[in-house]
Amino acid sequence: MSNYHIKHLEEYYQVYRKSVRNPEGFWEEIAEEHFLWRKKWDNVLSWDFKKPEVKWFEGAQLNITENCIDRHLATRGDKTAILFEPNDPKEGSEHITYKQLHHRVNKFANVLKEQGVKKGDRVCIYVPMIPELAISLLACARIGAIHSVVFAGFSSKALATRINDSDCKMVITSDGSYRGSKTIDLKGIVDEALESCEGVEKVLVAKRINSDINMKEGRDLWLQPLLDAASDQCKAEVMNAEDPLFILYTSGSTGKPKGMVHTTGGYMVYTAYTFKNAFQYRENDVYWCTADIGWITGHSYIVYGPLANGATTVLFEGVPSYPDFGRFWDIVDKHKVNQFYTAPTAIRALAKQGVEIVEKYDLSSLKVLGSVGEPINEEAWHWYNDNIGKNNSPLIDSWWQTETGGIMITPIPYVTPTKPTYATLPFIGVQPCLMDENGKELKGNQVDGRLCIKFPWPSIARTIWGDHQRYKDTYFSTYENMYFTGDGALRDEVGYYRITGRVDDVIIVSGHNLGTAPIEDAINEHPAIAESAIVGFPHEVKGSALYGYITLKDAGESRKHDNLRKEINQLISDRIGPISKLEKIQFTNGLPKTRSGKIMRRILRKIAEKDTSNLGDTSTLLNPECVQEIIDNAL
Ligand code: WT7
Repeated sequence: MSNYHIKHLEEYYQVYRKSVRNPEGFWEEIAEEHFLWRKKWDNVLSWDFKKPEVKWFEGAQLNITENCIDRHLATRGDKTAILFEPNDPKEGSEHITYKQLHHRVNKFANVLKEQGVKKGDRVCIYVPMIPELAISLLACARIGAIHSVVFAGFSSKALATRINDSDCKMVITSDGSYRGSKTIDLKGIVDEALESCEGVEKVLVAKRINSDINMKEGRDLWLQPLLDAASDQCKAEVMNAEDPLFILYTSGSTGKPKGMVHTTGGYMVYTAYTFKNAFQYRENDVYWCTADIGWITGHSYIVYGPLANGATTVLFEGVPSYPDFGRFWDIVDKHKVNQFYTAPTAIRALAKQGVEIVEKYDLSSLKVLGSVGEPINEEAWHWYNDNIGKNNSPLIDSWWQTETGGIMITPIPYVTPTKPTYATLPFIGVQPCLMDENGKELKGNQVDGRLCIKFPWPSIARTIWGDHQRYKDTYFSTYENMYFTGDGALRDEVGYYRITGRVDDVIIVSGHNLGTAPIEDAINEHPAIAESAIVGFPHEVKGSALYGYITLKDAGESRKHDNLRKEINQLISDRIGPISKLEKIQFTNGLPKTRSGKIMRRILRKIAEKDTSNLGDTSTLLNPECVQEIIDNAL
């Protein structure tokens, strides 16, 4: 037996050492014993971080849906695969068994084929958190189409950019979506986006809110009648291990989103293995991750990882505050959830509501708590650990990224002793290191540096869609022969890692990874605005919030500043989405710049953080006089 399920600390260290000394041998054994391959690999791993190129299980053939669905039918056919909990609790939940999932995915896959989707085609999925969302990912994977899920909170402009970047020929959406007491006109957003997307031939529309929408003749099709007519038998396409499974966009330091490409074999092996261990999933457990499938967390730990293990995974459509702030705990109680995975921003928002509301529910089913998306502050860590876990369910603070595909640094519950605010130890097979600013590795413990990974793991993203050079520049050029994460971290005296936050111009707001460049680009479109700079500042609930410094073309702009603020946020909402709105907007006469014309964000960040005691030497700036003015008018 291989080391698929790690149960104690000694075993962790032993398996970790094995995975690092002989990565090929280690992963080959895991892949061999726990997955269904149509053909085994010729070569376990080939890699070169200089090119960069990484290939796992080359020559192997498989279909990930056979691993996530078909192989469970004999033993788990009537087990719940997806447990759908709708926005409105009165609607009642839906249990989709593995058999039913098989039936629905096959039908959906046949509809895709009938509508002209072929292996390798890109399909954009812009669907709220309803079963059709998970099913559409799997249907694409069934026929070898590459899915590109766009979070259904993005604006029409952001959607159009993503559709065009990867040349999607189909969009899957719904008439609308529920979000707490509101409804959102998703199809309207799609229609607007498609005005600038010539490549899209077909739009499949799921019915969710029964709204009256426009259906464009010849392009738009209701999904349900097509599903009803389709066969429930669809042979799984045989895929190569290195064939792309999906594209998922993440923001970066330029205005253009990066379409991270994940491939099939390695992604499957790594997400399944991490799921089993990081959550200590046991047969018959009910697992719930509150993320949206529009983010990598949902891809890997609502859909692929859990289903590859034959797990029961909860899919929740709603929000933590509807019908009231007890909703999460109500769901845990109702479905006897065993593993609960959420984000620090949700924890902080719920902690603000007090423990009385938590105490109304029976949370005794919980065995493991998880946190992901941003550093979890000490207070939130304790609140979660004490009031939700009752000091009895280990809290795993799991660090990873869209680019890493799966969890990279995390305690293994009941195995690794936890420490507040620490992601603790690298997962099996992960070789992290800390670098100083001059490119030297910081050896030993009690050091603080930039987090890199030295060796490939199976689910590393292979490229950026259509832009391999950018992939190289972003991740492999800062430090030689290493994957650079963009995060800072420290290692304590026992070798535990604590992630301290981004060291680039990505800001994490409520767990959403936001690049400053696209936001600044959107603002600068405003005719009255000359220039802008966005920085993050600490926020009680959101972790970080956005602070915008904005210079107007005409300093004596007659319009009211408050109106301008509204217009700016409206512009951001239209171009990117409401999650990127600015919390604070300060109008300035100028922005501090270096002599080469670069905006000194470090200074602006300090002012936004209200820490102006040590701004450093500002006399070498091009325009030192603007600094005092900005401090005087800071919000
Ligand atoms: C960035 C990646 C993959 C999960 C969802 C976010 C930050 C993520 C942690 C954590 C501290 C964290 C990092 C990372 N981050 N998890 N446990 N502790 N920071 O995926 O949108 O690609 O963002 O989220 O800064 O680089 P993402």
